[in-house]
Amino acid sequence: MAILKIARMGHPILGQRAEEIDDVFAPEVRRLLADMLDTLADADGAGLAAPQVHVPKRLVLFRVGDARAGEEPSDEAVPLTVLINPVIEPQSAEMEPGWEACLSLPGMMGEVPRHTEIRYSGLDINGDPLSRIATGFHARVVQHECDHLDGILYPMRMTNVSRFGFADEMRATAQAEAADRAEPEHKDEEIEETADV
Ligand code: NI
Repeated sequence: MAILKIARMGHPILGQRAEEIDDVFAPEVRRLLADMLDTLADADGAGLAAPQVHVPKRLVLFRVGDARAGEEPSDEAVPLTVLINPVIEPQSAEMEPGWEACLSLPGMMGEVPRHTEIRYSGLDINGDPLSRIATGFHARVVQHECDHLDGILYPMRMTNVSRFGFADEMRATAQAEAADRAEPEHKDEEIEETADV
């Protein structure tokens, strides 16, 4: 078990298509899984994909914490999930913008359109089939993580690059704008949906 170094945007490992995992129980896959779980816990992130730790394999981890659950009816807490060789099927054409951050772009955040409802499937940590319908932040995290397996980072999904910047600056700006509108009760509304993934 070890905490792995996380690749940052610009490293070529983040720009390539990762390969399917043939044997979930291969020793190197079990070691990678254990190390990724340690690394995610250490980074206190919402998700992690194998290419982010320099391994081009189709394996992601994610969770939706209780603190985020319940913000909207479509948001639910999701226990830490291991997903191997994932496939995503959007359930409709509907997209929704939301804030994202990524352990490979430390300190940054951006507003990204994502499908509001997806079905994802793949293999779980025991090699058994896993299939779920996801909405809200759950759907967003899974789309973000699976993009890593195809060499896509969230800025490449953005449609308005003026909504990209350093997280602390953007939070300060959002709060100042809310104060100007005399809506202090909503001062954090625009930037709640952020977690490093
Ligand atoms: Ni990420």
